Amino acid sequence: MTNQKNYYITTPIYYLSGDPHIGAMYTSLSCDVLARFKRLDGYNVKFLTGTDEHGLKVAQVAEKKGMTPIEHCDENSQLFRDLTPLCKFSNDDFIRTTEERHIKGAQAFWTKLMESGYIYKGSYSGWYAVRDEAYYDESELKDGPNGSKLAPTGAPVEWMEEESYFFKLSEWGDKLIAYYTANPHACMPQARLNEVLGFIKGGLNDVSISRTNFDWGVPVPGDDKHVMYVWIDALSNYLTALGYPDESGDMATFWPADVHMVGKDILRFHAVYWPAFLMAAGLEPPKRVFAHGWWVSEGEKMSKSLGNVIDPKTVIEKYGLDQVRYFLMREMTFGNDGNFSHDGMIKRMNTELANDFGNLAQRSLSMIFKNCDAAIPEPGEFSVADEKMLNMAGEALLQTVRSEFDQQAFHKVLDAIWDVIRAANAYVDEQAPWALKKTDPARMGTVLYVLAEVVRNTAMLTAPFMPDSSGKMLDQLKVGEGERDLGFIGKSGLLKAGTPIDQPQGVFPRFVEQE
Ligand code: MSP
Repeated sequence: MTNQKNYYITTPIYYLSGDPHIGAMYTSLSCDVLARFKRLDGYNVKFLTGTDEHGLKVAQVAEKKGMTPIEHCDENSQLFRDLTPLCKFSNDDFIRTTEERHIKGAQAFWTKLMESGYIYKGSYSGWYAVRDEAYYDESELKDGPNGSKLAPTGAPVEWMEEESYFFKLSEWGDKLIAYYTANPHACMPQARLNEVLGFIKGGLNDVSISRTNFDWGVPVPGDDKHVMYVWIDALSNYLTALGYPDESGDMATFWPADVHMVGKDILRFHAVYWPAFLMAAGLEPPKRVFAHGWWVSEGEKMSKSLGNVIDPKTVIEKYGLDQVRYFLMREMTFGNDGNFSHDGMIKRMNTELANDFGNLAQRSLSMIFKNCDAAIPEPGEFSVADEKMLNMAGEALLQTVRSEFDQQAFHKVLDAIWDVIRAANAYVDEQAPWALKKTDPARMGTVLYVLAEVVRNTAMLTAPFMPDSSGKMLDQLKVGEGERDLGFIGKSGLLKAGTPIDQPQGVFPRFVEQE
């Protein structure tokens, strides 16, 4: 398959210190939507997710539970794996950093960096926060209770001194700036790239990349007093899942990654450390790191102590999977922060899904079922308004959707689709097919045909967001499984007149508050 287009997209690998919450669902969902879109667009996609299982924190959580670290990881990792069927994620692989394939690959990556002269042994001392798995500068600390010191994140810190291996990050500043100057879309959105460039220009220090104060990690090759620092271990998952150090096979097909999707909190690791590690190991940096914003819950930061952490399972049971998938991708301007609120959810469910989209499909298909002998009508000649509507929902919409997807502007993709849905609702009112039934049944057939086409196209383009609901609409229109990719958008996939349809069923019920 020489001309096959490949696409590699990754989520961060999730820490195993808690249960998966809406934040984890969100990062994975955005990747899932993009992966599904790219598959429909003919790409050979690899979509990777997984869990980040090493580090002192995990070891401590396991100990508290009276478990060995691996027992805890097996149990907790499964909760993240369960998100796949729960949220209908279409990931092709799930990697755990405790797997043999990862450990071997991470060690090979380390060895490569060592051989290229970018790792040296030294000693490290500083203020360390176990909770963040990070050292902080004295100047960053704030005062805590009883004369103690706290990290800027609020995590307790302690003074630590240890022998450590270092990566010569200080040598990479100019090369990273040159890289981002030549590839300004390698870090998005733009405001985040500016942040990253500011950080690099402020001067880069070498980074400590090994630990000796705990042993729950990947042993440093040739010096097993040390384990790798969790971030070098974790980042290398993107390679080890492709079979690294074997650079043929999946590595040859999928590296460099097209998108590493990350939350804004872990941008620096992905947009500064990671490209430097990769270039030092003679590998290409990812084509793009996209940093999205954070969800708050009913206007407040989510935290266990406030009891407002949103559990994906609970909201999916309450509102429905596709409704939650839609809301998450529509509510937040991708890249900014967003607020998960019950009212916001209901509003979008009832207006955009039930009223706008659901109604358009339901009334169009019902009229066809009732007035056209339950079969797709034969269209007559298309009027200017018909042509405009068909193009708007077909070729023109596809072009917009494609280009917005390429910017990870999911909210804009949905906006563009809803512009068409609203235009189609206005078109029904203007054309008034119910009145044409008596005066001009042939013209009624043409109008209903145009509407069925709008439903077909918008259902195909919303399928990456709402696979079940869009699938149901396409089933109702009798669109075959093999006719649901983007090659069938617009004129190339027109519905066949005479195709019988079943009695249509509403796809997006209104949410009614239970007393
Ligand atoms: N293990 C590291 C990533 C290593 S990748 C080589 C990690 N894990 S995490 O579990 O803490 O976070 C995973 C992702 O969830 C991050 O992208 C983070 O931004 C995202 N979110 C966590 N809480 C979030 C919200 N409240 N809202 C949106 N996303 C959030 O960091």
